[in-house]
Amino acid sequence: MLSTSLQAKLCAPTKQASPLSRAVFSLLYSPSTHGYSRVACITIQQHSSRSFTTTQDKKLRDFFPIKETESIRQTLPAWPHHGYTEQEMLSVVPDHRPAKTVGDWFAWKIMRICRWGMDLATGLRDEQQVDKKNPTTAVTTIKPLTEAQWMIRFLFLESIAGVPGMVAGMLRHLHSIRRLKRDNGWIETLLEESYNERMHLLTFLKMSEPGRFMKLMIIGAQGVYFNSLFLSYLISPKITHRFIGYLEEEAVHTYTMAIKQIDEGHLPKWSDPNFVIPDIAVKYWQMPEEKRTMKDLLLYIRADEACHRGVNHTLSNLNQTDDPNPFVSEYKGERNPPRPASKPQGFEREEVI
Ligand SMILES: [Fe+2]
Ligand SMILES: [Fe+2]
Repeated sequence: MLSTSLQAKLCAPTKQASPLSRAVFSLLYSPSTHGYSRVACITIQQHSSRSFTTTQDKKLRDFFPIKETESIRQTLPAWPHHGYTEQEMLSVVPDHRPAKTVGDWFAWKIMRICRWGMDLATGLRDEQQVDKKNPTTAVTTIKPLTEAQWMIRFLFLESIAGVPGMVAGMLRHLHSIRRLKRDNGWIETLLEESYNERMHLLTFLKMSEPGRFMKLMIIGAQGVYFNSLFLSYLISPKITHRFIGYLEEEAVHTYTMAIKQIDEGHLPKWSDPNFVIPDIAVKYWQMPEEKRTMKDLLLYIRADEACHRGVNHTLSNLNQTDDPNPFVSEYKGERNPPRPASKPQGFEREEVI
């Protein structure tokens, strides 16, 4: 368990927060006996004797222990991870595709509102914000976030990130069997995306425990988000894929900032050599033994987000009814299928079809 002073370091006192973020914090956090607001909804735990938590009286529960049965040895992932080279992971950079159509502009504006809500929920103070003119590419802040703030951001982001792929995949599946038409390979990629996002969430849930308010927020957000995406995908799959592309830009930005702050030594709990990442992550990404730090984990997750970013911006550029999914297609001649992480703004239609 953490000492009182360490807890105090982990969660900034709300007295210094802006009035609006203080109001949100008061809902997310419960008052502690030490005069600080502490994160009731977040428990960060090391799987070692030096484990720490923000709540002294509460142990991290295992939300999904491995189910042991008489006959089954293990249940393997439905979509094994395809893996990355180190170079691929290190070359990911935050980027932004400028809006070119009215639909793009609309998707971008909605995303700005979502980002504002996310910053508010994370309790970001002014000095923790990046340059507002370049919100998805600027990564410098006056003050770093705390591990607890990052964890709230990761959990909330990942809990909604798994929705769009499932909605889009489901609607394309229903369209295919209703209209008796082929789908041309989009459904699998979209479903795999939502599976991959769920693996991100499960990984963070092994490290932290959301409190009741956070759980309520997640349920509410899913209700609103699922139904909004369902309607918007029926109206315009093109704009919806652009919106998801912008969401993934935010995800790449978030993980890039967290990695930068680890590199700069601002997140000592995560750079501690005794910090052990969850087994579920090691198995899913097949992480080599010497590459199992929190930074390594975030590099894998960021590369996944960069793939989603490239895939969704590209899908938005295609003809939604006829074009095949280029990422799972076999090309003529010597050409290989495009690598989505390598193209932050997505491929234009004439480049891949
Ligand atoms: Fe994710
Ligand atoms: Fe993502």
